[in-house]
Amino acid sequence: MTVAVYPGSFDPIHNGHLDVISRAAEIFDSVVVGVLDNALKSGLFSAAERATLVRQSLPPESRVEVAHFSGLAVSFAMAHGATVIVRGLRAVSDLDSEFQMALMNRRLEPRVHTVFLTTGFANVYLSSSLIKDVCAHGGSITGLVPPPVEAALRQRLAPATTIPAHLEEAR
Ligand code: PNS
Repeated sequence: MTVAVYPGSFDPIHNGHLDVISRAAEIFDSVVVGVLDNALKSGLFSAAERATLVRQSLPPESRVEVAHFSGLAVSFAMAHGATVIVRGLRAVSDLDSEFQMALMNRRLEPRVHTVFLTTGFANVYLSSSLIKDVCAHGGSITGLVPPPVEAALRQRLAPATTIPAHLEEAR
């Protein structure tokens, strides 16, 4: 039985991540999505909120587990009996940092192997930061993120381009 973990920030999860999760679930016997709780970097959503959004975005019949973790990804993998870390690759530009991480993880824990899955063509340009930026400026993010994430983003990010009435008058 091969267990894989898919660690990431998921701030928030988008359709590119979901594509990687569903393909990982086809390949491995068990998949655990690991949402990083990073004390050094605060996200738009807390780790618990991000994990909830991942759970709400998975199909109801999904057997994929979701957990949040702090510390090393390899320790998270070992704690779940995983021998594989899955990472998604969008473009060659991702390769540099992903290669570095994979080699560091191998040095930290040689029993855990990194497996890269390419993101589906339709999702190649997606990133959580870009989606947050578009949403914050009032652009449409429909079709880029699952509905629960779209609702959460809309609620958290009021369009930054709205000009207050008293300034609007002065234009
Ligand atoms: O979604 P991201 O931000 O690209 O994911 C990066 C992540 C969470 C996979 C990476 O930062 C990570 O594994 N952090 C946990 C700490 C760790 O293991 N650091 C050493 C990795 S080489």
